[in-house]
Amino acid sequence: MNSNLQSQSKYTKRDILTSPFNENSCKILLLGSGELGREVIIQAQRLGMATVAVDRYENAPAQQVAHKSHTIDMLDGDAVRHVVELEKPSAIVCEIEAINLDMLMQLEKEGWPVRPNAEAVWITMNRERSRDMIAKKAGVQTSKYTYVDTEDSAAFKDAVEKIGYPCISKAIMSSSGHGSYFIKTHKDIEPARLIALKDARGSGTRAIIEEYIDFDTEVTELAVRHLDENGKIVTSFPRPIGHYQIDGDYHASWQSPNVAEYLPWKPQDIGAKFKPDEDLAKKAEKKIYEAAEKITGALGGLGVFGVELFVKVEDGKVRVLGNECSPRPHDTGMVTFMSHMIGMNEGALHLRAICGLPVPARINEDGYRVIDPIMPASSHVIKAASGGWDPEFSGIWNAGNMQGVNVYLFGKPNVPYEPDSPNEVHRRLGIVLATGRDALDAKKKAETSAHKIDMRTRQFEEWVSQDNTLDARKKHILKS
Ligand SMILES: Nc1ncnc2c1ncn2[C@@H]1O[C@H](COP(=O)(O)OP(=O)(O)O)[C@@H](O)[C@H]1O
Ligand SMILES: [Mg+2]
Repeated sequence: MNSNLQSQSKYTKRDILTSPFNENSCKILLLGSGELGREVIIQAQRLGMATVAVDRYENAPAQQVAHKSHTIDMLDGDAVRHVVELEKPSAIVCEIEAINLDMLMQLEKEGWPVRPNAEAVWITMNRERSRDMIAKKAGVQTSKYTYVDTEDSAAFKDAVEKIGYPCISKAIMSSSGHGSYFIKTHKDIEPARLIALKDARGSGTRAIIEEYIDFDTEVTELAVRHLDENGKIVTSFPRPIGHYQIDGDYHASWQSPNVAEYLPWKPQDIGAKFKPDEDLAKKAEKKIYEAAEKITGALGGLGVFGVELFVKVEDGKVRVLGNECSPRPHDTGMVTFMSHMIGMNEGALHLRAICGLPVPARINEDGYRVIDPIMPASSHVIKAASGGWDPEFSGIWNAGNMQGVNVYLFGKPNVPYEPDSPNEVHRRLGIVLATGRDALDAKKKAETSAHKIDMRTRQFEEWVSQDNTLDARKKHILKS
């Protein structure tokens, strides 16, 4: 490998940039090319960098905007090595979990610049390693938990009873709610075990059983580990992002320069039952930064991390518990595409951090480096309502002809589905971003707009509207 690349494997500040087709270009190689990676690429192009996007299917969102793309099976180590040696990137950005980790570690050992680092990707892709890292290495409080073999039904029952009801079971390697089950009574034990067995993503037969936390709100803290002007790694903190999930998958998120608008309250109480409490919000915020700093410090490396935390108020005191952490931008963080200054959204912050570019921040009264949003904003998902190829969207005028609203479509070419249940699909096809007077106003606008968009596919030609399940209605502001 040439010495230029060797030196890039170390964490150094970058003060020189070029045009993309120059032999000294800073070249970004994305492994995984979804909607989060798309923003990293767009920002890289704003800086004149060279961009290459890799995914397992053709025309993935970030591939559509990158200079160059490759379509390979990223679990195939030889294929990953081939692309890395061919492209000679200045930064290898891991956007997904399904990458051949042995090869990633090997490439890093050889001096290739894996970001944030191969071990962080290895730890966070597995719930057992991730939970041990949070609770033991970082020393951040979590829900009670235990691990169990899902093939052993007696042991599974014992594990559930040890944690107590209600609790949640999750396959050790899974995401977006797949493989997870809410266990309310003993009747749920067997269905939970079978779901964990069925939906495990290459994790064999292990599951985690976790105490259910009746939190007031959950937040994502997008902690950024980056170099400061002295070349030292520091952590900067965008203000906490509030969000809610439906069936374990992100549905809406919000952020405001005034976090007391939503922190630390239940999403459904925002703007209704409580009076903002500046003092309590400040205490919550400090505990959020504290926990996020410990967790990201345990993972190391450079980049944005999505630290998922539960916030609970008990007897006027705030508790913050660690849930999990992604070593990359986070889906709930897409609200920063609107709330943050251009060039400072989560994709841009990730790019700045991994490339050794400046990440300016304000030092707050507690000594934390804080990145402020410039306006209150909210995001709401546009989810597939049926499976099939070539999705089409209608209602773009109805949804988008509203001040402060931005409809984003990801350009995904296909919604995979099972032939006997074409409406049981789980794919995010876009988001609506909205700004407003405050987080609640923005939230109303994003939700109203997203639900005005219908979709259809080549296989299912009838226009269908967004998710309208009971659970969805309960969590939305508009109930019908
Ligand atoms: N122990 C828990 N107590 C309460 N809610 C939980 C717990 N674990 C998960 N959840 C809910 O389920 C969502 C998804 O769980 P998570 O562990 O983040 O898995 P995933 O990897 O699928 O995002 C969380 O964001 C939260 O809303
Ligand atoms: Mg999660």
